[in-house]
Amino acid sequence: MGLQEGASYMLDIQERQEAIIRAAEQYVQEKLASDFSGHDWWHIERVRASALTIAKEEQADVFVCELAALLHDLADEKLFGDEEQGLREIGEWLERHGVSEDEAAHICEIISTMSFKGGSRPPMRTLEGRVVQDADRLDAIGAVGISRVFAYSGAKGRPVHDPNVRPREAMTQAEYRSGNDTAINHFHEKLLKLKHLMNTAYGRRLAEERHQFMELFLERFHREWQGQA
Ligand code: ADP
Ligand code: NI
Repeated sequence: MGLQEGASYMLDIQERQEAIIRAAEQYVQEKLASDFSGHDWWHIERVRASALTIAKEEQADVFVCELAALLHDLADEKLFGDEEQGLREIGEWLERHGVSEDEAAHICEIISTMSFKGGSRPPMRTLEGRVVQDADRLDAIGAVGISRVFAYSGAKGRPVHDPNVRPREAMTQAEYRSGNDTAINHFHEKLLKLKHLMNTAYGRRLAEERHQFMELFLERFHREWQGQA
């Protein structure tokens, strides 16, 4: 391949990738249009933005990270009932839109392994997986994270806080998903653990700040709850 041909080939790839990203945006917007549990389109948009920033810092494959970030909630059993079915649909969508077999397999692997599910899962295998997982976790903490917990709890009909319901220590996936939970307990069962689980330097740095903000929030919450502030 000559220099000029090489340049136009690269441009071609870039245009194809951009078209796939645009199509994925549309696909996800349609699928998540009616979500009010904190997994709406704007969650996806924020995770995509963070994933892009971290991918560049870590010199990861930006296309794989962006596409995985866009599609990452479409196989969630909380939202769609059946994880296997969701993954199959994502695989088919990627194939239909001309994503290479290797990239499609990589993206599906990221999506199927990145979820927290009680916290007992093995680390992500690839750099791109670590990037997207960090981006998703960042959106669960800090000011945005705080708002999402209460939105999720409300959508599930669960209380904000009940001092008689203690946070659970270690949990199976079924227990993690089960109904006997409050928004405040979710901080202890998941959100306050996330800063120790970050994969990348950039993720850790941001998680530290967001963690401190949640600590501050909880401290005030409990003081106000007891009429002390
Ligand atoms: P993952 O998909 O990584 O297992 P989830 O989808 O369970 O994570 O959680 C995504 C976000 O939804 C959480 O960060 C939190 O804001 C909210 N959420 C999930 N489970 C609960 C819960 N039991 N109580 C309150 N919020 C929850
Ligand atoms: Ni997510």
